[in-house]
Amino acid sequence: MSKRFIVSPGGKLSGSMQVPGDKSMSHRSVIFGALAEGTTHVSGLLEGEDVLATIAAFRAMGVNIEGPDEGRLVIHGAGLHGLQKPQHDLDMGNSGTAMRLLSGLLSGQSFATRLIGDKSLSARPMRRVVDPLSEMGAKISTAEGGTPPLQIEPIDSLHAINYQMPMASAQVKSCLLLAGLYAEGKTCVTEPAPTRDHTERMLRGFGYPVTSDGARVCLEPGFRLAATDMMVPGDISSAAFFIVGSTISKDSRIEIKNVGINPTRTGILFILKQMGADIELKNERTIGGEPVADLVVQSAPLHGIHVDEKHVPLAIDEFPAILVAAACASGETVLSGAEELRVKESDRIAVMARGLANIGIDVIETPDGMRVQGGQIQGGAVDSHGDHRIAMAFAMAALQSNAEIQIDDCDNVATSFPDFQALAGSCGLGIRVINT
Ligand code: S3P
Repeated sequence: MSKRFIVSPGGKLSGSMQVPGDKSMSHRSVIFGALAEGTTHVSGLLEGEDVLATIAAFRAMGVNIEGPDEGRLVIHGAGLHGLQKPQHDLDMGNSGTAMRLLSGLLSGQSFATRLIGDKSLSARPMRRVVDPLSEMGAKISTAEGGTPPLQIEPIDSLHAINYQMPMASAQVKSCLLLAGLYAEGKTCVTEPAPTRDHTERMLRGFGYPVTSDGARVCLEPGFRLAATDMMVPGDISSAAFFIVGSTISKDSRIEIKNVGINPTRTGILFILKQMGADIELKNERTIGGEPVADLVVQSAPLHGIHVDEKHVPLAIDEFPAILVAAACASGETVLSGAEELRVKESDRIAVMARGLANIGIDVIETPDGMRVQGGQIQGGAVDSHGDHRIAMAFAMAALQSNAEIQIDDCDNVATSFPDFQALAGSCGLGIRVINT
């Protein structure tokens, strides 16, 4: 059985809401809380399946974690050297972040582990972490083709490397910094373009020294993480669907409270504003070392743009929603330099291109992006290919459609946004879920 969204055409979004906690920060708060000395209290945690997989992994390694209970988690840290050998494989489910970040951490342990995942994760590239970890002396191997499972053998010690990342990936950067906590010498990672910096910010929040110099970030072993309290803000990647939904539907106005606006995550705001969106940031403040604001979004006519490639890594998870906005804009939107979208939870270029075509939009797929000709959405059937963000993006497309949109394979919405249907429904989206 799998979930199908059936979304009625038209309507508008209104009201004041909160989206669930940031997924990237939720994973990291569990990881660093587990490695810290003392008790960490987390609030605002995303209780999605991806983060639950990370929690389960640390429990399997002997870490005492209470919750989650309404976004609250109490982590009794084991310290950097307190993890124990798990009695079974660690199942990362759908989560690339969990698998890649933990591969770095586990490469530095004195026990063996095996990391497995679901069908989607089992097809995702892991050489991007395995190659540099092997350079550091890790004993880590993949299945044929460079995909999971990851088998990690115990080692005596890792050695630091100075790594120039070939792609802009916060997961690779974070993986190597986690390995660097256990490596002899100074581990440095240089990124080709800025990526989300939650790992660096949170390490510092836990009292661990990290130096950043332009595109290069470095750390050394020998320090400790001190437990702290973490407040996770709302996830801009989840807010993205409502930002686009409110923009494309007539007479809409929504307020999304308490959204993380870390500048390494706000590419969507630049891109949509450039297309003509009306997005206001209110009550800007800093919580737990991360910038946060309330967003007010009103309907606005959009026009197509050439998306600036420098914004791509800063909006990397938001392209399903942005491409729905492009479908509703006048003129053509061109996305390029976004080949990383092909190795997300699905091949987001191919799956979005097919889905948009199915609902009557002219799209030309290119190796590293697509060209979308804005037009009238006609309704129809879309296969999300088990990709949570594609399912939610097409649900919002119904607001500008002249017929119902049906979206298949939506179970994985629970990985990042378990209450999506209820929240979207309460704001005005005509969404029903059936089991097929
Ligand atoms: C993430 C980094 C990004 C992003 C993912 C979360 C993270 O992946 O797409 O959803 O938390 O570090 P890449 O590092 O592969 O770009």
